[in-house]
Amino acid sequence: MSIKQKLQSNQFYVNYSRMWPFVKPIWPIALLSLLICIPVGGLDAAIALFLKPYTDVVVVGKNMEAPWFIPILIVGFTTVQGLLNFGGTYLNAWVGGKLTMAVRRRLYEKLVDIEPAYFDKKTSGEILIRFNQDAQAACSGLLSNLKSFLTRICSSVALVGVLLYNSWQLSIVAIFILVVAVAPLTKVKKLIKSLVSKNNQCMYQVNTTYNETFAGNRTIAAYNLQERQKQNFNRLLDDVFNLVIAITRRTAWLSPFMHFVISIGLGLAIAYGSWLIVQGTITPGNFVSFLTALLMLYTPLKNISNVAVHVQQSFLAIERVFAILDRPDVLVEKEETKPLGAVLQGVKFENVSFSYTKGVEVLRNINLDVKVGEMIALVGNSGGGKSTLVSLIPRFYDVQKGSIKIDGVDIRDFSLHDLRQNIAVVFQDNFLFDGTIKENILLGKPDATDEEVAQALESACLADFIKTLDKGVETYIGERGILLSGGQKQRVAIARAFLKNAPIVILDEATSALDNKSEEIVQRAIDNLMKDKTVFVIAHRLSTVKNANRIAVINEGDLAELGTHEELMAIPNGLYRTLYNMQFSAPVSAD
Ligand SMILES: Nc1ncnc2c1ncn2[C@@H]1O[C@H](COP(=O)(O)OP(=O)(O)O)[C@@H](O)[C@H]1O
Ligand SMILES: [Mg+2]
Repeated sequence: MSIKQKLQSNQFYVNYSRMWPFVKPIWPIALLSLLICIPVGGLDAAIALFLKPYTDVVVVGKNMEAPWFIPILIVGFTTVQGLLNFGGTYLNAWVGGKLTMAVRRRLYEKLVDIEPAYFDKKTSGEILIRFNQDAQAACSGLLSNLKSFLTRICSSVALVGVLLYNSWQLSIVAIFILVVAVAPLTKVKKLIKSLVSKNNQCMYQVNTTYNETFAGNRTIAAYNLQERQKQNFNRLLDDVFNLVIAITRRTAWLSPFMHFVISIGLGLAIAYGSWLIVQGTITPGNFVSFLTALLMLYTPLKNISNVAVHVQQSFLAIERVFAILDRPDVLVEKEETKPLGAVLQGVKFENVSFSYTKGVEVLRNINLDVKVGEMIALVGNSGGGKSTLVSLIPRFYDVQKGSIKIDGVDIRDFSLHDLRQNIAVVFQDNFLFDGTIKENILLGKPDATDEEVAQALESACLADFIKTLDKGVETYIGERGILLSGGQKQRVAIARAFLKNAPIVILDEATSALDNKSEEIVQRAIDNLMKDKTVFVIAHRLSTVKNANRIAVINEGDLAELGTHEELMAIPNGLYRTLYNMQFSAPVSAD
């Protein structure tokens, strides 16, 4: 391995330089926050240095005159050191906070652009830690530990200066011992890396458990899952505890090891130093000053292993941050995208195949041409691939074979923004944001007028319900719209889509939670509003499907039948005909 390769493979080196863009806007203050460590650390040495004249003149020489100012100077230096320390801590928090903010912002920008498939495979806990907490560990955590580290190093350099000033012979012994004592610190990262990674996995799960307890609170109550939750949680806590203890076990020997090596150093220094005094090579003042400097140098070393562990944890967090930032975008946009103003012809699926996991095709060779002004209904058994098919249009996922075209242009040639601006989607289970009804509906068209909002509410069959509310459209609906009924939530989502007024409309079981009467009204509004649009509607109530211009039966990933209601009913033993007959001849058919 060449040196260059070595440097490149060294994560610390690579990441260290890559933090620069985040540091750049605040570099003078960042530099100052580190430079301030020099006087803070360096002033340690002054105290030790003054002890030489003090000992020689006062203790040995019994002379009170010369060094009267020494106690005052010591107090003075300590005061200055204290003030600098305050400044250092303040600057450190400021710079750490700014860096954390910048990194978090970049991570969040990445997060909102990530493709849905990413979220299919991650837990909410992992997202929370990797996009939020890691930024803190990587920046603020690193900086405050770096400050301790630098202060210690500056203090060490100054103290070594004091050692050398007093006796170079003793210094050689002391520095040799120092190097032996700190040598194992270089191994810390290797020792903790795998454990830190396991510990993170556990922390992801802990966070996920909190989220599930929040979002699933009713299921937990309804199925008496409290005991199960508690047991799972306790198991996680045990794992976390064991991992923290394991990290301690792997690193806690560092401190006593250093202590031991250092005691040898002190013993040697005292023995050798006494001999040097007797020989007359050094004065007693040199010896006292040397020993003080040595003690000041060695004492913090015993704790430096903790700092080293924290610094390495921060470096590991930086590695995780950059692993996310370096992650290539899966939904690639072309360098030069084609504009998509209005949809004039329609949406066409050409030989589309798709699989979520390699080798398991969920859609096979789908060909479907839907013209503007046409409403196509997708029907078929659950799990057949209907939702998957429509989720390919706004590029929640990209097709693996074939292509989807709008007006003859592959949808991957448009910018994601333009493409999605032209599509309105209503899902079966819609996400509503924490806020009011109006705020949620306006997401479809932020600059809509009150009349437009009222019209959308009317069309979505919500107007009567809104009238019963004290605050009307300004009514707060809670996180995820929890204060609304399933049908009301769905209608808010439909109103949002109506307001967006996009040329392509996707309704994936969008009216499944409505009662028959509302569904009929909403369906009529849909029929009216969808006149010049390209509409994909998935519904399992075949009565609503009958209005569609054409019906596509999706069966286990294949487009099995395609035609009008009458055409499909005419196929003997046809899938649609069977589905239809089953729904309408069933003795207790709720829908
Ligand atoms: N995000 C996903 N990751 C992996 N597999 C999925 C995902 N979503 C759906 N599937 C699978 O794809 C198949 C088709 O699902 P879907 O399109 O939701 O069917 P439908 O809407 O017709 O009921 C099912 O077998 C389902 O398990
Ligand atoms: Mg579905």
